[in-house]
Amino acid sequence: MSELPIWGGIIRKLWPTEVGKFREHLLRLDPESRRMRFAHAVSDVFIEDYANRMHHMGSIVYGYFEGPHLRAAAELRKLSAVWGEEAEAAFSVEKDWQGKGIGTALMGRVIRAARNRGVKRLYMSCLAENAKMQTIARKHNAMLRYEYGEVYGEIVPQGPSYFSLFEEEVEDRMGLMLAVLDIQNWAARAA
Ligand SMILES: CC(C)(COP(=O)(O)OP(=O)(O)OC[C@H]1O[C@@H](n2cnc3c(N)ncnc32)[C@H](O)[C@@H]1OP(=O)(O)O)[C@@H](O)C(=O)NCCC(=O)NCCS
Repeated sequence: MSELPIWGGIIRKLWPTEVGKFREHLLRLDPESRRMRFAHAVSDVFIEDYANRMHHMGSIVYGYFEGPHLRAAAELRKLSAVWGEEAEAAFSVEKDWQGKGIGTALMGRVIRAARNRGVKRLYMSCLAENAKMQTIARKHNAMLRYEYGEVYGEIVPQGPSYFSLFEEEVEDRMGLMLAVLDIQNWAARAA
C-alpha cells in the first residue's frame, strides 16, 4: 500500500467544507497552468463559480496538502446521475510543485476511486501541447486520441477488488486523522 505522506505533504480527499481551499488553489495556478487546466484562459469569477460547484456535482476531489495549503488537486466527476459507466478526471498542480510526481500519484488515486465505484470508462482531456499530462496518462495506460488541438484520454479501470476497496478505506481514515492533527498543529502555532 502506498504511504500517505509524500514529499513533506499528504494526499487525501477533500471534505465538502474545504471548497475554499480548492478555490484558493485553483486561483493560485499561474496563467499557463490555468490555461492548461481549463483548455483556455478563464477568469477568477469563472474559477470561483467552478470551485463552489465542486461538491454539488458529486465530485470526489483528492488533494495534495502541505500544512493547511492545498497545492494540487485531482477531480473525479461522474457523467451521469449515479456512479457507474462513465466519469471524467481533471488535474491541477501549482507550478512550484510540478514535475515531482504529484500528478502521477493523484492520477493513481483517481483511477482507484473510479474502479471502486464501478466506473467502466474514465475520460480526461488536455491541450495537444500538454506533454506532461499525456505522459502521466500514458503511464496509467490511457488510450489517447488527438483531435483539433486537444487530446482525449480513455482509461478502462479494472473492477473493484477487496484490496482496492480496503486501500481506499484505510487511506480515508488516515487522511482524516492527519487532517485533524494538522488543524490542531496550526491552531496551536497560531495561539
Ligand atoms: C499536467 C500536470 C497535472 C502533471 O502533474 P505533475 O505533478 O507536474 O506531473 P508528474 O511530475 O507526476 O509527471 C510528469 C511527467 O511528465 C514528464 N514530462 C515533463 N516534461 C515533459 C515534456 N516536455 N514532454 C513529455 N513528458 C514530460 C516528466 O518526466 C514526468 O514523467 P516521469 O515521471 O516518467 O519522469 C501538472 O503539470 C499541471 O497541473 N499542469 C497544469 C494543469 C494541467 O495541465 N492539467 C491537465 C489538464 S486537466
